[in-house]
Amino acid sequence: MALLPILCFPDPRLYTVAKPVAAVDARIRALCRDMTETMYEAKGIGLAATQVDVHECLIVIDVSDKRDQALVLINPELVWRSPERHLNEEGCLSVPGIYDGVERFDAVRVRACDATGQLRTIEATGLLSVCIQHEMDHLLGRVFVEYLSPLKRNRIKTKMLKAQREAER
Ligand code: NI
Repeated sequence: MALLPILCFPDPRLYTVAKPVAAVDARIRALCRDMTETMYEAKGIGLAATQVDVHECLIVIDVSDKRDQALVLINPELVWRSPERHLNEEGCLSVPGIYDGVERFDAVRVRACDATGQLRTIEATGLLSVCIQHEMDHLLGRVFVEYLSPLKRNRIKTKMLKAQREAER
């Protein structure tokens, strides 16, 4: 297993649209393991392959308290969403230290393959629903700050670039 470096906003690679995973093979299973380990190490509740510079449709999520219920979603497809939407506070491992409100569907139904290649349907509400929508956005090249006002986004961009420059010194 290996820890993978996480891309930080505004890295242009975060805007890449992911391609479907062609086959759930040994390479993909290893990627699932590495991404899960990377997510736990970074204390995140979700990680999309896009964030580790792999542009294939793969997400790992764990919203459990004990951090022992990792979910792998390969080629996730939204098949239903609730009419109700709510504003939730979100953060992202690619935008460290920034939290802001984003409107998401209260509930979603998603079809995806698991790490064994088995097609499953997941019904999600609450935090899991928010997390799935956030991570599926990454696969479309969308970071949550895109939902904020241009003014806020620019302020975040400036802050991130400054932090990255300081880290390089
Ligand atoms: Ni994120």
